[in-house]
Amino acid sequence: MKKINFASDNYAGVHPTILQALNAANEGDCAAYGNDRWTLEAIEKFKEHFGSSSEVFFVSTGTAANVLGLSTYLSSYQAVIAAETSHISSDECGAFENYTGSKIIPVKTGTGKLTVDLIASCLTDKGNVHRVQPAVVSLSQPTELGTLYSLTELKEITAYAHQNGLSVHMDGARLCNAAAALNVSLGSVTRECGIDVLSFGGTKNGMLGGEAVVFFDTSRELPFNFIRKQGMQLSSKMRFVSAQFTALLSNDLWLKNALHANALAHLLKEQLEPVQEISLAYPTQTNALFARIDNEIVIKNLLDTYAFYIWDHDGMEVRWMTSFSTTHEQVLDFSQEIKKQIVLFNKSF
Ligand SMILES: Cc1ncc(COP(=O)(O)O)c(C=O)c1O
Repeated sequence: MKKINFASDNYAGVHPTILQALNAANEGDCAAYGNDRWTLEAIEKFKEHFGSSSEVFFVSTGTAANVLGLSTYLSSYQAVIAAETSHISSDECGAFENYTGSKIIPVKTGTGKLTVDLIASCLTDKGNVHRVQPAVVSLSQPTELGTLYSLTELKEITAYAHQNGLSVHMDGARLCNAAAALNVSLGSVTRECGIDVLSFGGTKNGMLGGEAVVFFDTSRELPFNFIRKQGMQLSSKMRFVSAQFTALLSNDLWLKNALHANALAHLLKEQLEPVQEISLAYPTQTNALFARIDNEIVIKNLLDTYAFYIWDHDGMEVRWMTSFSTTHEQVLDFSQEIKKQIVLFNKSF
């Protein structure tokens, strides 16, 4: 039986408007490697959202965006400060370390969010030749725990980082969900908060595939064209990535998709809040819920019909995630089923 997806927005299909854009771009032959009109158009769209001086490069995966974007800022003796739960630290199979030879300094946060104090605690060995030297702070917005930095928190962190000679990277694999939840523009939660380089996600918000590395810090020499090619991320048929981005960033599709995914996560939360057997591990701010059920039988039974991740090592915390294609009905059915399984379990004792 095909399971109903509450596992990830990566499980979702492709938004019909993106498919139409792909079809429209499938028009005869054109120059390869991004020297085509679709890529020029997509870069202009990014500039509309992120500011005209932004430099934009498309890549195929979020991991590539993170690793290649970060690599621009580092020598191998330098390091990135990131939350222990960040994707670069815990979910990219050491890609960053393997590719750059640099180290990630993982920081315990509790919420997925770095703070100025936590960053400061990583700087005590500055100048000590025996220690790696932090050069970049990497923030995920939203975090891998679905939590959000406010604009004030972002500005505090970037100001502190810049005062201390650090650049700031943002992993925005779900930046659209964050901007939608904060009710702000894409530019105001990135460039205007002092971010230097952004990994911008398209795949999780309705695209077939494609991510972007966006540099706001253009004061430096950025040979990213070469870094991307050497990093095996220069697609020859770039127009098909570009056409998707133009569609996503036009007519508020990015916002509509993200608002929908966020709203359905909130609906699930509202349905489950009264259930005393369930506690939410973190505030539900975007499109993910992290719930403790403390009942492995209920979790196992739910997994027969629904796909979702068991999140922690004791197996009692789960992640439920919604996407642009999750339906209202699926959320109501899922919450009914969760409640039913809890009642059945309680009756059996
Ligand atoms: C926060 C975050 N960053 C980066 C990535 C990496 O994306 P990809 O799987 O396309 O490499 C993911 C994927 O789930 C993610 O959740």
